[in-house]
Amino acid sequence: MSTAAIIPAAGLGLRLGGETPKAFREVGGESLLVHAVRGLKAATAADLSCFVVAVPPGTEEAVGKELEPYAGDARLLVVPGGAERADSVRTALDMVPVDGIDCILVHDAARAFVPVEVIERVVAAVRGGAQAVVPVVPVTDTIKRVAPTGEVVDTPDRSSLVAVQTPQGFDPAVLRRAHAAGVVGATDDAMLCERLGVTVMTVEGSPDAFKVTRPQDLLLAEALLAERRLA
Ligand code: C5P
Repeated sequence: MSTAAIIPAAGLGLRLGGETPKAFREVGGESLLVHAVRGLKAATAADLSCFVVAVPPGTEEAVGKELEPYAGDARLLVVPGGAERADSVRTALDMVPVDGIDCILVHDAARAFVPVEVIERVVAAVRGGAQAVVPVVPVTDTIKRVAPTGEVVDTPDRSSLVAVQTPQGFDPAVLRRAHAAGVVGATDDAMLCERLGVTVMTVEGSPDAFKVTRPQDLLLAEALLAERRLA
């Protein structure tokens, strides 16, 4: 049994600015997507046998050529992404082989520097029987719910809040069922599972699995990479 990884990388990354889609932005001379694929492949305990990457339509061939050397012995499929993240994941999910896969990871290209231990923790939890698993970190800000008119509605107890990262891991049948049911506005795949009544388990994430979203995140990513290269 082995793991398949879906990488949604079809977003434009408007908050990051620039002309290039976010997954193709470079850190340390390589694209976020290359870093993401290399990172997943380095998680040897995950036994990755297949990558399905969703990219901006029209870039499939070029991305396939760029990623091939990093996929190693794993199968690499590149598909055109959709309008929303969930559409990109759904298109990729349709390409994941049904036989021989006991865990599907869904990993944002923008979280290119997730440590190997986090990936392996997620896969181990799925193999240990969890149907859906998310890596989480505590929130450091106080979070408030705000009405459309701008007033604060309430302040949830911070000790019960976490920020959710990727890769998220799933029992393949559960993820297929969750995407078939669909939910408008779902921002992650675990949310689709929650709506089905599936229990989503948490494992410890990492600050290094931050999502490259704003220009300053590229600086942070450069610093993190430089530190890793020295280690
Ligand atoms: O926009 P956001 O940063 O939440 O996107 C998370 C991930 O989903 C990114 O890796 C992005 O490339 C991907 N995405 C996608 N298809 C879309 C929108 C986002 O694959 N239509």
